[in-house]
Amino acid sequence: MRTVGVVGATGYTGVVLLSILEQHPSVKIALATSNTHRGKRISSLFPLFRGRLDIELKPTDGDHRGACDAFFLCLPHGSSAKKTRELYDDRSIIIDLSADFRFEDRSLYERHYITHGAPELIPHAVFGSPELYRGHIRQAKLVANPGCYPTSAILALAPLVREGLVAGDVFIDSKSGVSGAGREAKMGSLFCEVSEGFRPYNVGVHRHEPEIQKELSKLGPVRIAFTPHLLPINRGILTTIYGRLTRPLDTLGLLDTLKQAYEGEPFVRIMDEGVYPDTRYVRFSNYCDIGGKILDGDRFVIISAIDNLVKGASGQAVQNMNIALGLEETAGLTALPQFP
Ligand SMILES: NC(=O)c1ccc[n+]([C@@H]2O[C@H](COP(=O)([O-])OP(=O)(O)OC[C@H]3O[C@@H](n4cnc5c(N)ncnc54)[C@H](OP(=O)(O)O)[C@@H]3O)[C@@H](O)[C@H]2O)c1
Repeated sequence: MRTVGVVGATGYTGVVLLSILEQHPSVKIALATSNTHRGKRISSLFPLFRGRLDIELKPTDGDHRGACDAFFLCLPHGSSAKKTRELYDDRSIIIDLSADFRFEDRSLYERHYITHGAPELIPHAVFGSPELYRGHIRQAKLVANPGCYPTSAILALAPLVREGLVAGDVFIDSKSGVSGAGREAKMGSLFCEVSEGFRPYNVGVHRHEPEIQKELSKLGPVRIAFTPHLLPINRGILTTIYGRLTRPLDTLGLLDTLKQAYEGEPFVRIMDEGVYPDTRYVRFSNYCDIGGKILDGDRFVIISAIDNLVKGASGQAVQNMNIALGLEETAGLTALPQFP
């Protein structure tokens, strides 16, 4: 049994991590932290854990160095880098769910976020997209879990960009459930602000745009425009991507390219012709479903769906931990999506 710790266990990604890890066959939850709720039992805050997980919350600000084989950091950016500096050693692996170590280029991070809190660790971090960097994750001590929107967009586009099929600009239109904004009280997340409406936000300035751009640029030439929208649902991301092809292709050819790229991948499912992803069919699961269609032989529409809290955050984090610790990659993650 490996020991794991969830730092920032009272937020949405922290709670989902605890739920996944509680059912993981090869790990034991040794630590869960919160500053606000230190000393309380996790099951008293979240009764879903009653009778299953009764661990007491330790202060996030406490010294937990070496306490676990793997730490998951579920903190806001900035706090994560500082905690990583404290915990980074030869013994433990760290999976950071924030954006703090997703950018190899410190200045790019600082342009879109804040002054970096542990720049000396940036070269040690691996971008935690198993489908792109599995080999690197195996050796990693510090894994930067990708953002939720980037996961949905990068997985959908990577095969086409890599094959040189994308002619210049692509337009990425993403819609997310409200849990993507975290559990902290914010006016924009209030029920009356979200329900019965549907709106774009951070148009042209969302922080996930540079993350998507820099990852896709490693695979080939492409320029993206990204617009996120807030959907009046709890969880789920649907991303629709439009672009032009460099050479003629039909829909079967597009789906074949995607199928070949993800052959053997346990958590990427390519839809058949005429079937499109739906957030309802990935909820509570680590799947990324991808479908698409070719228009007039020269333009493509690709659609992907993930659960932002699972493949977009905590599930992918467990997948990364499994790889880095040499465990079965799918361990703890085999639950079917739940419908309805
Ligand atoms: N939500 C998503 O869909 C999603 C997807 C991918 C990545 N992420 C990233 O994952 C991280 C966690 O997201 P979340 O949605 O779980 O956030 P959240 O629901 O707002 O939870 C944040 C957690 O961090 C703690 N915290 C807040 N401010 C802190 C500070 N200054 N110092 C120490 N602890 C602090 C809170 O603990 P207390 O109990 O102490 O208040 C809470 O447990 C963020 O960096 C986010 O960008 C989120």
